Amino acid sequence: MPLPKAELHLHIEGTLEPELAFTLAHRNNITLPYTTVDELRAAYEFTDLQSFLNLYYALTDVLRTEADFTDLTRAYLTRAAAQGVRHAEIFFDPQAHTARGIPLDTVIGGITAALDTAQADHGISTHLIMCFLRDRPAAEAMDTLNAARPHLDRIIGVGLDSAEVGHPPNDFAQVFAAARDLGLRLVAHAGEEGPPDYIRQALDLGVERIDHGIRCLEDPDLVARLAAERTPLTVCPMSNVRLRAVDTMADHPLPALMDAGLLVTVNSDDPAYFGGYVDDNYRALAHHLHLTPEQLRTLARNSFEASFLPADRIKELT
Ligand code: HPA
Ligand code: ZN
Repeated sequence: MPLPKAELHLHIEGTLEPELAFTLAHRNNITLPYTTVDELRAAYEFTDLQSFLNLYYALTDVLRTEADFTDLTRAYLTRAAAQGVRHAEIFFDPQAHTARGIPLDTVIGGITAALDTAQADHGISTHLIMCFLRDRPAAEAMDTLNAARPHLDRIIGVGLDSAEVGHPPNDFAQVFAAARDLGLRLVAHAGEEGPPDYIRQALDLGVERIDHGIRCLEDPDLVARLAAERTPLTVCPMSNVRLRAVDTMADHPLPALMDAGLLVTVNSDDPAYFGGYVDDNYRALAHHLHLTPEQLRTLARNSFEASFLPADRIKELT
């Protein structure tokens, strides 16, 4: 039985398995530039973050209707349950859809229809986090936040994702401040490919959790700050290897992050693209880095502690 855990870094668009991509393409009369599932899966060979994002955004084109988003989210929840997930904080990228003419209502309506039955179907509680695409203008992020106002009862927080280098958190200071004024929680991808200073900028914006964050190890003062503030890192080991932020799983800095006293969590990021779901990540770490059962239990406990669940619920789950 997989350890009960929370998943805190999961892009719902990154759970689009090739089989479902073909099903949705067929349903929506879209011709994919691949003829078979195997041919598509063979394209999942990445050299860096951008090479992955190119395919990730291209395949979102099959997501057109509310039912498509519901089916995508249901498929993730089914797999997550089998991997021991008891609570999931799920990212979505509204601009990846609104830029294609898909209404925000369709995206949020479709995803939340699946979230609404997750507790009953799988015993999984859920939160939804809306990410801004950092390689698009900050003004567009602000427009997205404003467009989401009617849906804020369904959104717990905002995040920042997409191509990192050259797009520092400071560019989004205004929209993050506005989100905070609306009562939203703040997270941001930082220190995946970008430098430690991007992590520092994210913290200075009031971000409560750093997504990835592995490059903090290059800056001891920053590590000390993250440890002192107990700022969680949502680390995604298989993603880091597949996007070549780390050479091999045996070289992954997760043990060093734990040894530095950081609140480390393990997550899957874009599991359909990176070869495994969240428990597969735990197992890869256990195998290649010889993590002890006690370390794995600590990681699972950290995942609940780092979540946006209320303290009494965290207590029940840990
Ligand atoms: N990094 C940045 N943007 C993303 C990622 C990621 O790992 N996955 C989906 N969008
Ligand atoms: Zn991510």
